[in-house]
Amino acid sequence: MNLARLALRRGFDWLELALGQLFPPAWNPVLNLGALGFFFYWIITVSGIYVYIFFDTGVHNAYQSIEYMTHEQWYLAGIMRSLHRYGSDALIIVMMLHLVREFARDRYRGVRWFSWVTGVPIMVFVFVAGISGYWLVWDKLAQYVAIVSTEWLDLLGIFGEPIARNFLSPDALESRFFTLMIFMHIAIPLIALAILWIHLQRVTKPRINPPRGLALSVFAMLIALSLAHPATSQAPADLALVPGNVGLDWFYLPLFPLLETLPGSVTWGLAACLLAIMIAIPWLPPMKRPRIAEVDLANCNGCARCYDDCPYNAITLVARSDGRAFEREPVVNPDYCVSCGLCAGSCPTSMPFRRLSELSPGIDLPDHTIARLRDQTHEAAHGLSGHSRILVFGCDSGPRLADLSSTSVGVVPLVCAGQLPPAFVDYVLSRDLADGVMLTGCAENSCQMRFGIDWTSQRLAGERDPHLRTRVDRRRLRTAWLGPAGSARLNAAVDEFTASLADLPRNQSRQTPPSLPPAPKETVDA
Ligand code: HEM
Ligand code: SF4
Ligand code: SF4
Repeated sequence: MNLARLALRRGFDWLELALGQLFPPAWNPVLNLGALGFFFYWIITVSGIYVYIFFDTGVHNAYQSIEYMTHEQWYLAGIMRSLHRYGSDALIIVMMLHLVREFARDRYRGVRWFSWVTGVPIMVFVFVAGISGYWLVWDKLAQYVAIVSTEWLDLLGIFGEPIARNFLSPDALESRFFTLMIFMHIAIPLIALAILWIHLQRVTKPRINPPRGLALSVFAMLIALSLAHPATSQAPADLALVPGNVGLDWFYLPLFPLLETLPGSVTWGLAACLLAIMIAIPWLPPMKRPRIAEVDLANCNGCARCYDDCPYNAITLVARSDGRAFEREPVVNPDYCVSCGLCAGSCPTSMPFRRLSELSPGIDLPDHTIARLRDQTHEAAHGLSGHSRILVFGCDSGPRLADLSSTSVGVVPLVCAGQLPPAFVDYVLSRDLADGVMLTGCAENSCQMRFGIDWTSQRLAGERDPHLRTRVDRRRLRTAWLGPAGSARLNAAVDEFTASLADLPRNQSRQTPPSLPPAPKETVDA
């Protein structure tokens, strides 16, 4: 399974790089798959409502009403029909890519099981909604889809009367059954939307809207496609004839030829196995679960920064229990914590300047403590020489760090870039541990821990607590958000940084070592 995941990851890295040639980094579609899924959902909803206005819900006139839209009112209803069709195809593409990408990035285990498992019924409902949409056109393809799918459902033996009987002869199909199909086509996407809401319950501030530029470009592409290749119907359905040579839609109906050819026991068996495997995936080996974040009340003033920065809603604030004069204290929910360390990076007590015995923040990762991070920083800086000594702090999910180490470059691994308190940058430069600091990690919008890059960028820019102090010479700091595919670019960025440091006058900030910060005050930070 690990080999498959590695191959998939490489495939996504390649796709991300390829699309990076066409789109600015923040618009890269690979980095916005979930948000694009929502965008296509809204396009399908709006175009569906418009098409429904002109759609005749009776079985005898449904085909004609769609023909009218396609040919007579091609300039609006026809485009809406095409948007509905192509938006649905696009939804399948981004949904399946989103699913495979989350798998490839190992973002489905542990507490993330919730988003994964709720994704499975969404996938089923999206397919069923699309398939039921094909019935409504009531052309030859609709007839084929209706017959094959009802015969398959009848194999379950749960319907009193076989439903495929409705399609035996022209008189058999009642408008009532057709109306039921329309009802299903509306109800199923609504159920999918409700599950989508549940899908996002365990992530904080989910990105459900793609960047405006990406949304407009994708919409323009859909309009262009709708004008160049309007969605059309096949010949009208005729229950007196067996439909043959229907052109299949390969997005929604790729398995239909199998349903026709393989025995029902095999196809139902395969479908059940596939679903069971999908649901079981988060619990399949190898199971590795790092220890979750731990709160140390002795060093916590209840400022709530960790609560604000947690990307998985894993922290709640409760009434203070230790008798100190603070109102609140954070509590970590073990079922939600992914051990990303963003909380430790946000805590005002994660201060490397503190004396060794005191370096115990209000919240920390027991497997990757801030104290250990400071030791690693010293170890990596030890023995560096030259005028452009650089310390690179990089996360596990970013570019490869191992090849960077040299006599002038030291590397310090992080769980996530957001785990690094900005004070470390100040510490390295003011203690003359290096002449420059570089932070690297996942690509923008693609943080493995969701907000590591955003929070880090805001902290460095002084827009989010804890700020990087203004006295830090920004020319001695670089960020390189490049993702795992960016190893070569990281090497180039380090070379460029080395050259720019050589042009700078001697590091000034190292001459003014800061005093030790005070212990947390007995007041609640704003
Ligand atoms: C129409 C279909 C879907 C849409 C629109 C959708 C949308 C989203 C969005 C917006 C997020 C939050 C991303 C973020 O802000 O970090 C998300 C997370 C996630 N989705 Fe989906 N999703 C869909 C289907 C699926 C399916 C079929 C699966 C897998 C079976 C899946 C698995 C996941 C997982 C595991 C996460 C959590 C990632 C994390 O923990 O950071 N999704 N989805
Ligand atoms: S380690 Fe990450 S998920 Fe866990 S509490 Fe801290 S910020 Fe939240
Ligand atoms: S002091 Fe640290 S642990 Fe306490 S609430 Fe603030 S960020 Fe969280």
